Amino acid sequence: MKALENRTAIVTGAARGAGAAIARRLVEAGAHVVLGDIRTEAGEAVARELGDAASFIPLDVTREEDWRRTVEHTTTLHGKIDVLVNNAGRLHIGTILNTTAEQARTVVDVNLIGPFLGIRAVVPTMKAQQMGSIVNVGSLDGLIAMNGIAAYAASKWGLRGLVKSAALELGRDGIRVNTVCPAGGNPEMYGPWMEQLVGMMDEMLAYTEDRGIPGEVSLEAIADAVVFFASDASRLCTGVDLPVDGGAHAGTFLRGFNEF
Ligand SMILES: NC(=O)c1ccc[n+]([C@@H]2O[C@H](COP(=O)([O-])OP(=O)(O)OC[C@H]3O[C@@H](n4cnc5c(N)ncnc54)[C@H](O)[C@@H]3O)[C@@H](O)[C@H]2O)c1
Repeated sequence: MKALENRTAIVTGAARGAGAAIARRLVEAGAHVVLGDIRTEAGEAVARELGDAASFIPLDVTREEDWRRTVEHTTTLHGKIDVLVNNAGRLHIGTILNTTAEQARTVVDVNLIGPFLGIRAVVPTMKAQQMGSIVNVGSLDGLIAMNGIAAYAASKWGLRGLVKSAALELGRDGIRVNTVCPAGGNPEMYGPWMEQLVGMMDEMLAYTEDRGIPGEVSLEAIADAVVFFASDASRLCTGVDLPVDGGAHAGTFLRGFNEF
């Protein structure tokens, strides 16, 4: 039997990038998946590609009304909600002085209030089932900070606080809540800042290469970690932050010290 046979999952931000990879892996593991995103065309295309096990619904994670429709769509179609993956995310690169309140609010709204509303939306169903797994996609930037992304880092640190509180609150109802913290994802997320980033190639390379396990974080590695938390393999894990980062969070790697 597959790890998620007969399970039903909602994945937010599933129109591309890590969300699409997560939806794909969940289907491979046997789950029915409802994909939600604000990118309707791309989301519908991913759902079509995944076949009968998948469907798409337009979902802006910052809107409670959208969450209500998503829960209704999922329970009408599948009768239950076993897994919620809060993956939708928004980046803003800019120093604090170069970030407006509006830009910061938008990031926090999507990355922190979005998962908060998602939890609020699915928990009544999960409580009734006395079972559920809520997996949140955070970031390495929510474990160790980085300059130039204060709003994003703050939203991802906040997400970990939300997750730990929710884990304690919901454990007795059989609901687990965890965070996957990747050190990379879909490069398309950097779209608006790409030109400047290309100009700092050496620094970008050092960011991915100076780790215990060097290299980019693949979307599949993120998806595999999500499947672990979604499945019973992690049945006693709740309130956990799991870095998917090649050891970046483990500490400092000095190339020369490996030669001593
Ligand atoms: N890209 C990276 O380098 C990186 C690194 C660490 C963590 N992450 C996290 O991984 C997750 C997935 O990002 P990704 O790398 O696949 O980037 P991505 O930009 O490809 O995916 C983000 C998705 O979220 C959707 N989205 C944005 N706002 C939304 C909203 N209000 N409602 C619903 N959907 C919305 C976008 O349309 C997009 O499909 C995010 O939470 C991100 O913060 C990304």
